[in-house]
Amino acid sequence: MGRILITGGAGFIGSHISLALLKKGYKIIILDSLVNSSFESIKRIKSENEGIFSNYSNNFEFIRGDLRNATLVNELFKDSSLTKSKQITSVIHCAGLKSIPESIKNPIQYWENNVIGSINLFNAMKVFECRTIVFSSSATIYGINEGSLLNEESFINPCNPYGTTKLVIEKLLHDIYINNNDDWRIANLRYFNPIGAHESGIIGEDPIGNANNIFPILTKVAIGKIPKLMIFGDDWPTKDGTGVRDYIHIMDLADGHVNVLEYLQKNFPQQINLNLGTGKGTSVLELIKKFQNINKVDIPYEFTGRRKGDYGFVVADNSLARNLLNWTPKRNIGDMCKDGWEWQRRNPNGYK
Ligand code: NAD
Ligand code: UFG
Repeated sequence: MGRILITGGAGFIGSHISLALLKKGYKIIILDSLVNSSFESIKRIKSENEGIFSNYSNNFEFIRGDLRNATLVNELFKDSSLTKSKQITSVIHCAGLKSIPESIKNPIQYWENNVIGSINLFNAMKVFECRTIVFSSSATIYGINEGSLLNEESFINPCNPYGTTKLVIEKLLHDIYINNNDDWRIANLRYFNPIGAHESGIIGEDPIGNANNIFPILTKVAIGKIPKLMIFGDDWPTKDGTGVRDYIHIMDLADGHVNVLEYLQKNFPQQINLNLGTGKGTSVLELIKKFQNINKVDIPYEFTGRRKGDYGFVVADNSLARNLLNWTPKRNIGDMCKDGWEWQRRNPNGYK
């Protein structure tokens, strides 16, 4: 059956996808530089699965390495191509830097890491005849669409360098597909707002440095590491004036990857763009309230001005993914709050 390469598999999303794939019996190989993650997440993925497989070392391998190192990436594909059962048959490409404010401060770093890393990967895939790829794209590539759901045909206009790198990688994949459209199977998954953690609480979100996204900040306020949550704006044209987002449970997102791989393998070569979200909007105040009620913890908060470059309402029309992949997000916002808190409560210092 070969193996699936997960770039960035030690990170928040990649580690949950890895666990979902291992549970389904897939063999995986993770490549990660650990620039924004820790080896501890790899150890946890391993320990969660060691008892399940009789020959575990065939199912899981980790390589610490940077996608910008073209020689390393080529060697990885070359070594894997020598043994049939170790061949890389598909790639899930999660590796990338993802902080919007950091990308505005240092656009060259973002282009270098995200775009050059992707070029090296796609080149090695071409040389070693691996033609199936699922790319971690983002809802951030869409332009302003206040009040209405975003579908895959909505106006595209990323407003920060991070988003621009996601769009150019989608475009590069399009050019690769057009050049050889009877061969490549490509899915650009445009994630909305993945939050929460694996139900076991053994893996979760633990960014290196300061968190920018609301959910890791919320759980850190709950555990007492941050005094209060600052809410960016109370004057958005939304139900309660705070920003509305489409939060999706990380395990629903991970399951979507399993389904999309199966879809690509079963169908003719193609390139597809798919929104992965729930289609339901939740405001910042609603999220705080739900987290407090479900977990019986207090979340002190204060209003401050709008964050630069923010949007009021970002919610997916997810009908294409639901129809095509036979996939439905199963977990609600309460499950996201419960599982995310379980991870933080069991790991007050994250992976440290
Ligand atoms: P993350 O930072 O937790 O994981 C990314 C992983 O990639 C990290 O483990 C990091 O060490 C690794 N990495 C980065 N550059 C690398 C390189 N050059 N070579 C090898 N490894 C490298 O982020 P995440 O939240 O898990 O996001 C995964 C992907 O999904 C990213 O591409 C991100 O842009 C995208 N995405 C995330 C969100 C979100 O809200 N988390 C939303 C939309 C899209
Ligand atoms: N927010 C606060 N306080 C905070 C952090 C966030 O009020 O301390 C608010 C934001 O204003 C927004 C909501 O919480 O209304 C969600 O903000 P996040 O930063 O968690 O998420 P974004 O939707 O802004 O961006 C995220 C990722 C991007 C990704 C995008 C996809 O950071 O990488 O989702 O929709 F592209």
